[in-house]
Amino acid sequence: MTMPRFLTVAFLALTPALTLAIPASVAQTTDPAQIIRERREGLRGVGAHMEALQAIAASRGDPRPALPRIDAITAFFEGFPDRFPPNTQAGDTKAQPAVFVDRSGFLAAHVGLTGPLANLRTVAAAGDSAAFPAALQQLGGACGNCHRTYRAR
Ligand code: HEC
Repeated sequence: MTMPRFLTVAFLALTPALTLAIPASVAQTTDPAQIIRERREGLRGVGAHMEALQAIAASRGDPRPALPRIDAITAFFEGFPDRFPPNTQAGDTKAQPAVFVDRSGFLAAHVGLTGPLANLRTVAAAGDSAAFPAALQQLGGACGNCHRTYRAR
């Protein structure tokens, strides 16, 4: 059985998105343990993407291959605060109580990702290997800015 060529091409075009997929934006379940599990899995995926981006930065190579990872990180963080409903404060989580008490600060730390993510994407799309490491560091700073207050060690 041979696949029509246009189907093969369409399939290949989809493959990178599939392999890089991390759990889709907002939790579909209401089970607190599962919401926590899914957000932590997603965050581990983000962590793996960051490590790969750091390797690209360290190599000083063409940053364009970083684009799918930057897009995957961006997609994961869409609606991120919704992954922290009040019933997920306890359990197998490192989220600090501040996430649930100081909601406005948490939301601000989330918004703080937007500029650095967009800038990193622009730099990567331009193939600007000289600017990429600093742009990545700026994004890492925005991650740390939230973790400092809202994630337990
Ligand atoms: C708005 C706040 C916020 C931002 C921004 C944020 N994080 Fe986090 N992160 C958290 C919280 C809260 C947890 C703990 C989640 C839990 O345990 O339920 C966490 C946990 C993690 C974990 C541990 C996952 C695990 O359970 O093993 C990783 C890895 C991580 N974040 C990576 C990142 C990276 C990389 C960025 C930046 C691209 C980032 N985070 C940005 C709040 C944030």
